[in-house]
Amino acid sequence: MSKTRVLTGITTTGIPHLGNYAGAIRPAIEASRDANTESFLFLADYHALIKCQEPERVRESVRAIAATWLACGLDPERVTFYRQTDVPEVTELTWVLTTVTAKGLMNRAHAYKASVQGNLDDNNADPDRGITMGLFSYPILMAADILMFNGEKIPVGKDQTQHIEMARDIAQRFNYLYGDTFALPEAVIEESGMILPGLDGRKMSKSYNNTIPLFEAEKKFRKLINKIKTNLLEPGEAKDPNDSALFDIYSAFASHQQIADMRTQYANGIAWGEMKKVLFELLNEELKDKRETYNLLMDDPAQLDEILARGAEKARDYSAPLMADVRKKVGIGPIAD
Ligand code: TRP
Repeated sequence: MSKTRVLTGITTTGIPHLGNYAGAIRPAIEASRDANTESFLFLADYHALIKCQEPERVRESVRAIAATWLACGLDPERVTFYRQTDVPEVTELTWVLTTVTAKGLMNRAHAYKASVQGNLDDNNADPDRGITMGLFSYPILMAADILMFNGEKIPVGKDQTQHIEMARDIAQRFNYLYGDTFALPEAVIEESGMILPGLDGRKMSKSYNNTIPLFEAEKKFRKLINKIKTNLLEPGEAKDPNDSALFDIYSAFASHQQIADMRTQYANGIAWGEMKKVLFELLNEELKDKRETYNLLMDDPAQLDEILARGAEKARDYSAPLMADVRKKVGIGPIAD
């Protein structure tokens, strides 16, 4: 049986937090160990430029995200792990796909429409104010990422499903015009991934400024756990596990038995201070060795570059022949051929 090709990208803005770990990193690494799949995982640094025009932040984020995935157990021998910008065929294919993509399709992209709506709401004379062609064509670059490797299953967050549908549309259009070339990708919504609350109890997210960085130094990490919002119930008063950020985070890391025991402790009125201590211990147990590996990798950027370069080499074993085929199909190449 041939293996299913799973492919996903991570936009390199920001530093991974606990919510990214429980929601995306941990389940993706687990899935990558499945013998029936072949995984491609890449750092979408061209996509990052659309969202962030601060070079230092982009650089730092690439470094931190690469180090995080490796420290969390991603095996670069099993998984093709690379940086998007190390595969020049991606941008070449982006252009060819741009020429077969209907502008109307891009007009319908949620991210673009939301920006236009924002301008209209602000009574801007120009509805496209502040919108770059990068943002507008973002789904085409993403389609190139996917189609380049004939990605079949694409694990993404809900907000990205429209982009996968667009990649399908674009693939179909190309196949129709030039003959069967691309597999049609399908989105897979990560269900094993969980949504963690952040410090203030809302979903942990960079945009709420309520995150706990995954590999924060131990002391600071403990401090942040101590900051997670609780209520004013005293020790000895029964507490509701269904309305507790601490309990939700605990549940994302504990065994079934531990979770059941913790429910009893809530009923028995565990003190918030005690709960925070228990939570810290549990998280630290899972993270401390990984944190050490992370710090070693962060201190050895040359090693990170080397791992990514090897990944790009593997990726190009696929992308170079595919791009050669695409060029030929569209009529580009030496005249004498
Ligand atoms: N746009 C995706 C995000 O922000 C990242 C991404 C880029 C991606 N290219 C991709 C995801 C290809 C899946 C497949 O989450």
